[in-house]
Amino acid sequence: MAIKRLYLKINGVDRYVEFDPAKDTLAEILRRFGLTSVKIGCGKGVCGSCSVILNGKVIRSCTKKMDTLNEFDEITTVEGIGTPSNLHPLQEAWIAYGAAQCGFCTPGFIISAYQLLKENVSPTREEVRDWFTKHRNICRCTGYKPIIDAVMAAAKVMRGEMKQEELYTDLQKENGSIYNTHYPRPTALAKVTGTLDYGDDVGLKMPPGTLQVAIVQPKKYSHAKILGIDISEAEKMPGVEKIILASDVKGTNNLGIPIQHPHSVATGFDMPLLCFDKIYNYGDVVALAVADTMDHARAAAAAVKVDLEPLPEYNNLLDAVKPDAMRIHDDTPNTMMYQPIHKGVDDVRETIDNSEYVVETSTYTTREPHMPIEGDVAQAYYDEDGMLTVQCKSQFLYSTFGIAFAVGIPPEKYRCVMNPVGGSFGYSTIARPYALAALATEVTGKPTNLSFTYEEFMHHSGKRSPSFINARLACDKEGKITALEYDAGIDKGAYHDVSFEITERFARFLGFPYDIPEVTGLARCVYTNHGFGTAYRAFGSPQCIMSMETMADEMAEKCGMDPFEWRFKNIARPGATMIQGAPFHEYPYEQLMLMAKDHYYDAVKRARAESTPEKRRGVGIAIGAYNTSGGGMDEAGCRIKLNPDNSVSVYNTWEDIGQGGDIGTLVHTVEAFRPLGLKPEQVHLCINDTKTCPNSGLAGASRSHFMSGNATIMTANKLMDAMRKEDGTYRTYDEMVAEGIETDYTCVYNLAHLNLTATDRVKDGQGDPSPTYMYGVFVSEVEVDGNSGKTKCLSMKGYVDIGVVGNYLSVDGQAYGGMSHSIGFALQEIYEDFKKHNNIAACGVPTANDIPDGDNFTIEYAENPRACGPQGSAGCSEVFQSTAHVAVINAIKDATGVRIYELPATPTKVKAGMEAIAKGEQPYKPAKYDLGSDMYETLAELAAGQA
Ligand code: FES
Repeated sequence: MAIKRLYLKINGVDRYVEFDPAKDTLAEILRRFGLTSVKIGCGKGVCGSCSVILNGKVIRSCTKKMDTLNEFDEITTVEGIGTPSNLHPLQEAWIAYGAAQCGFCTPGFIISAYQLLKENVSPTREEVRDWFTKHRNICRCTGYKPIIDAVMAAAKVMRGEMKQEELYTDLQKENGSIYNTHYPRPTALAKVTGTLDYGDDVGLKMPPGTLQVAIVQPKKYSHAKILGIDISEAEKMPGVEKIILASDVKGTNNLGIPIQHPHSVATGFDMPLLCFDKIYNYGDVVALAVADTMDHARAAAAAVKVDLEPLPEYNNLLDAVKPDAMRIHDDTPNTMMYQPIHKGVDDVRETIDNSEYVVETSTYTTREPHMPIEGDVAQAYYDEDGMLTVQCKSQFLYSTFGIAFAVGIPPEKYRCVMNPVGGSFGYSTIARPYALAALATEVTGKPTNLSFTYEEFMHHSGKRSPSFINARLACDKEGKITALEYDAGIDKGAYHDVSFEITERFARFLGFPYDIPEVTGLARCVYTNHGFGTAYRAFGSPQCIMSMETMADEMAEKCGMDPFEWRFKNIARPGATMIQGAPFHEYPYEQLMLMAKDHYYDAVKRARAESTPEKRRGVGIAIGAYNTSGGGMDEAGCRIKLNPDNSVSVYNTWEDIGQGGDIGTLVHTVEAFRPLGLKPEQVHLCINDTKTCPNSGLAGASRSHFMSGNATIMTANKLMDAMRKEDGTYRTYDEMVAEGIETDYTCVYNLAHLNLTATDRVKDGQGDPSPTYMYGVFVSEVEVDGNSGKTKCLSMKGYVDIGVVGNYLSVDGQAYGGMSHSIGFALQEIYEDFKKHNNIAACGVPTANDIPDGDNFTIEYAENPRACGPQGSAGCSEVFQSTAHVAVINAIKDATGVRIYELPATPTKVKAGMEAIAKGEQPYKPAKYDLGSDMYETLAELAAGQA
């Protein structure tokens, strides 16, 4: 290899750089220099996390070949504009406005904004959005609004119109509380200075001798027999330590959990770490190449020959349920799980037939990709106590103990630590990628680093499960709902992961916000060969709400009412029961709709006045909800230790995937210790290490704030009880030790005292499984191009009740982020074509210009305190992504007359609909989906125990 030497000015310092001109990129070299603010996300120049300034221009350094640089070129990274003790106004504004959530995109955005403000220190918000769109700075967490806010505020500071310290507002209440304020998250400083080490940064900084791991992912077929795997050439490749096959795995090679469901015969052990007999899915892995460098590992992985015999591919539920479809998993029929629901009567057909108005729809929601900017990466090693330690992105650390069984070590010898995470949104509940790193260390006995390319990650990770839903809704002549019937097919992809949970969500959320006396329904979970369905924010509800809120609009039209009026008539009010039979826990819908009312009707007026044949304007409304917690058996642990300096250390596994496990832990701890007057700087966060922290459960189901919050209060109270003296004052650490009083407490909070009832899985889906819910009303304005059919979301406003807001910066961030995903889900996000949909740009990730901004992108809270919630809070994040997609779809119908039943609402579909209407024809409406059997026959078989 020839080495080239170049003289560059990096962050104002002249430096010589040695590199391989044949392959090195600027991003790799800067990272090798320790400038790890420069992140590599997509590796293809479409995410902007590697942005740097080169000679006064923002460039994406991951695709910039070093050999194209010239002597004396000047490069600036975030490390060159500010330090933790001397922040640039942009960095400070990013902290103050909550613009860094996961923070992976942050250095790229800040350096991009730095150049923008150098060129124009008084940009408009539109110019800022255009700049980020032009430079492909993508953020998947924030919905962009907090980022634009931060740039505008920093520009003010730079123009001398405000002081840098004035960027912060509402940090603390007069009584000392930081709960329900804009207190910034503890990890923000490291994020804005590029000093937070994410997975690849950790990988880069691992000690010498750490082996690199590349996966062998054939990427040929989504269903095939493995006839043979030839590793003979790969084993001889330079630097190769070991090629690992399934036959090398001492454990079960599987992360399965037994499925105990009355209407399922699936075993739960269907997801091998390394496939050996069959490929079930395009992203499956058959071997690992372990070598001294990543280049060597990748070269060896490419040299592994996999002999495959293609089998019929069922990449769609409708194909997988056909009578002649072969079984994807030999031991299980493709339809592998059922959830019946019966409310009021066993069979709603008579009620529907006798109702005044009936609408019938079939709706489809897509396999939405999560698209974090950071793909999957993990390290594994044996720690000083001989524990096999995995550092990874898991958002359920204690669930990764399955890795011990999969790779064949005793569970007490396993430890999981969370790396800082560059976004997840749900996909990292499954530990399979992290198990591969553990496997490489278990087999070689050495530390390893596994980093997926973004394309590998895209195909290996789970997605939101697509749904095919046939439904009928009936009303009386007053427009009041009489009955609902639905038959839902859930495309689970190749593996069962969370099938138990998602079928249950259909029993809760199809029809949830409404007062519906009678319901008959069935949810079917079906294996296909496509990407497996996994957790994703608002898990299970967007599919249901697509069906219900489509019918709500159609029914309003049929009843001669406007969409707001019909909903206002039918929303749940005191006395109404959920479709699960129990009363709603709260009834805030009237309040939320009244909050939305003026805006809705103003927007309708505006749309009617401004709509033209070329630019068609419309308004849509949709309402929905999500549950808080994992149900009646849910529990969370918390440990708090009093330190010699009278500060406290908090230990939990409140996983922070960007949503704010750090700030959540901090605000709950400070609030719980208010009797002591503890200050935020006296709280040490020692979180997310299974060796030291109790199990706080999954960061999902909008449970963490609620469960860990309650656990924190409980533990703090226990410590304060021990510290309290007879006169009501508190002992110091020294006094505690002198009196022999314990200073380290662990408590587990559980929901048993609330007497919740699990969803009935056998008979009727009835139950009351959650302590509280989050509720939302969303209103969207769109503009559809009359020629191309392209839709622009002009505004999105959410009106929500999540109880008392714990921290506005992080909750606002979840709100804008969630609503931005919903807009993308409605209009452009897709993962379907394996060859094409391999990066975030190809999968339709929204840019800054795809999402509304400023006063057109807002959230209003009705902070109704929850009696059972910590400080009156419920959960937070999932309601924001549950519903807003249908507000967009309903707005398109309002604008054009075209109803989109099958997501996403691409320009092609909308244009075809407009053309049909222009010709006097009916736009496309899907026929009833054939889900494999007649629903009522299947319900009868389930009742008889025969299905
Ligand atoms: Fe932008 Fe997470 S904060 S991607």
